Amino acid sequence: MERSFVMIKPDGVERRLIGEIISRFEKKGFKIVQGKIVTADIVTVEKHYEEHKDKPFFSKLVDYILEGPVMPMVLEGENVVEIIRLMVGNKEPRLAAPGTIRGDFSHSVTKNIIHASDSIESAEREIRIWFAE
Ligand code: PPS
Repeated sequence: MERSFVMIKPDGVERRLIGEIISRFEKKGFKIVQGKIVTADIVTVEKHYEEHKDKPFFSKLVDYILEGPVMPMVLEGENVVEIIRLMVGNKEPRLAAPGTIRGDFSHSVTKNIIHASDSIESAEREIRIWFAE
């Protein structure tokens, strides 16, 4: 069964949006097979975002993810990677459609509530990083 990796970011946890977000995924028919609330460490976060390490926003992004607890999780279902990306919405606030998680709850390109894997390969890589145990 296809798996995706999702992480509710510190602003999503702080704003008590965990229930709302999980509820959307469950109502869509996806199964949450792993999940935890953790305060991330810098090694994990830099590894997760390593493809962006040369981008100007990299250190701001890493610092933000370290600001407070996050909720990484693994979801399972048919075409889950592609469908969850649609449910999350565009990272650019002006393009995040109402009805998507970002479109409904965020207007910031950094504090944007949630991360979701962009491919099956990324999902498997990110699951290994966050659920090494
Ligand atoms: S890019 O810009 O196309 O290479 O980015 P993308 O692959 O879509 O993912 C970028 C992730 O970094 C977060 N982020 C920002 N992106 C662009 N500009 C700024 N200023 C910025 N700040 C943070 C963005 O939300 C993506 O995070 P994730 O967690 O992967 O969705």
